[in-house]
Amino acid sequence: PQPLRLGLIGFGCVGQGFYDILQQQPGLGLAVTRIAVKSPDKPRTLPADHFTYHADELLNDPTLDVLVEVIDDAAEAFRLVSAALRQGRRVVTANKAMLARHLPELVQLEQNFGGALLYEAAVCGSIPVIRTLDGYFSHEPLRAVQGILNGSSNYVLTRMSEEGSDYAAALAEAQALGFAETDPALDMGAFDPRSKAVILAAHAYGVFLEADEVLNLGIEAVGAADVAYAAARGQKVKVVASVQRLPNGRVAALVTPQMLGPESPLFIVEHEFNGVVVEGEYAGPQFLGGRGAGGHPTGSAVLADVLALRRGLRYGYAKQATAPALQAAEELELDV
Ligand code: HSE
Repeated sequence: PQPLRLGLIGFGCVGQGFYDILQQQPGLGLAVTRIAVKSPDKPRTLPADHFTYHADELLNDPTLDVLVEVIDDAAEAFRLVSAALRQGRRVVTANKAMLARHLPELVQLEQNFGGALLYEAAVCGSIPVIRTLDGYFSHEPLRAVQGILNGSSNYVLTRMSEEGSDYAAALAEAQALGFAETDPALDMGAFDPRSKAVILAAHAYGVFLEADEVLNLGIEAVGAADVAYAAARGQKVKVVASVQRLPNGRVAALVTPQMLGPESPLFIVEHEFNGVVVEGEYAGPQFLGGRGAGGHPTGSAVLADVLALRRGLRYGYAKQATAPALQAAEELELDV
């Protein structure tokens, strides 16, 4: 069969990681035929003839089977992804800020025009958490989803707890390793994990929250003394996102620093790793962990999405249907 032709928009940390994985696995039947980047002046790891500086050329190229959007700029990403969905195209994105802002519109476009949009890489890098919530856990209500959703702030907290490395030095390391956002205040102020919590709420509960509805407190105010205070009690400071349905039926989310002890599955999540605990009504708590940032782990999730699109995967957002079902069973006094 003909290889699937991919248009890659963005060639930063994630784009290069994705491209590199593809080069190392030539047998997948995928070909990146065009790459769009913003700046003609940046040094690139590939010859200049691989690139175009006009992303719209990819939108206008009907021979591309899938568009992969991995740029930084959320507004430009929305312009490109929404235009592609209006053409009924298949699209993979890793842009969590864009998704948190525009998910309802994008889902509507996907449904109206018969395209497809997958974005596993947007939340927790390599961890298949969206697939787990959207697919596997469509069979039962969830009590809560909790997680460490930002690799950079977790890296800084981990380094601060080791051999007295300070905040500024640890942040510089996270940036040098390619974990941090271009504006690291998005990581340190918990704006990045707030976007991810909005996306998780959509797949855990079928609810589209506004980012502004999610309280986010970051680690700028967490000092060495706080980390030491926790350590003296056998605990760690972690930025934990929590998404759950309240007894009144509303879904609420927040992201804040917390002190966690070893009884929490998130206690062992260190450096740029992320972890998520999904608590099913009947399954009980389940823990997923893995690398949450970096070119290869995130590129790996992008690749998984491209292959899933080829198999025909679409997200369901069907979770809200299960809550009334449970309620009805309770009314009938079934043993639930
Ligand atoms: N800056 C993000 C993080 C990258 O540190 O987790 C992955 O979304």
